Amino acid sequence: MTARQIRARHPEIAHHGAVLTTVVDHPLARRALTTLRDRDTGRAAFRVAMDDLAGILVYEATRQLRVEQVRIATPLAETDGVRVAEPPMAVPVLRAGLGLLPGVLRYLPDCPTGFIGVARNEETLQPEPYMNSVPDDLDGRDVLVLDPMLATGGSLTYACGLLRDRNPGRLVAVCVIAAPEGVAALDRSGLADELVVGAIDDHLNEVSYIVPGLGDAGDRLYGTA
Ligand code: PRP
Ligand code: URA
Repeated sequence: MTARQIRARHPEIAHHGAVLTTVVDHPLARRALTTLRDRDTGRAAFRVAMDDLAGILVYEATRQLRVEQVRIATPLAETDGVRVAEPPMAVPVLRAGLGLLPGVLRYLPDCPTGFIGVARNEETLQPEPYMNSVPDDLDGRDVLVLDPMLATGGSLTYACGLLRDRNPGRLVAVCVIAAPEGVAALDRSGLADELVVGAIDDHLNEVSYIVPGLGDAGDRLYGTA
């Protein structure tokens, strides 16, 4: 979906300027997302569908991956190829972000991984951090920050703020479903360079769950905490 189509469908997303937003509406992504949304999908199948979708999202999220030229020989001739110059750091936001990590490591097995633990307080909706293993200085390394659900935006904005203070290169958020409110919050924050997402849904309900959404991503992946 192009930026213009996103703007036309979601005029409530205020600026749409700071964060380059891509909705990956490829048929295979939509199929995986349908499995994730379906309340009759059990935990094992849910994890498989999350992993499937993660692979597709990573394709889009790594479009600007820095590569360097290499010279190789096929069985017939020498030719030019590329290799990844410096893999990004993958940063899953615990817990649910872990569901997206294997899909990243499948395509970028040399990615270093940092972990940010943050739980949304379901009464105040404020992010409550409980762990962080990201190096103090990322030295310009690109980052893929992984969190399936962008609801109010509190958790992802917190994670991006922490990363932004550590000298990252390009900061790309990878999400499965976003609410328009969450996209607007991330956009306003100016903390991420890019958002790659499977779908932007209709709205948040009275307890700030995404509608239609998929429910509680962490619980569906791993069981109730
Ligand atoms: C969920 C989800 C996001 C956050 C989204 O995590 O994985 O991190 O909520 O909500 P927000 O945009 O309003 O902050 P949760 O806090 O439930 O923790 P979990 O991943 O451990 O289940
Ligand atoms: N966290 C989730 O896991 N799902 C939502 O819809 C909102 C927050």
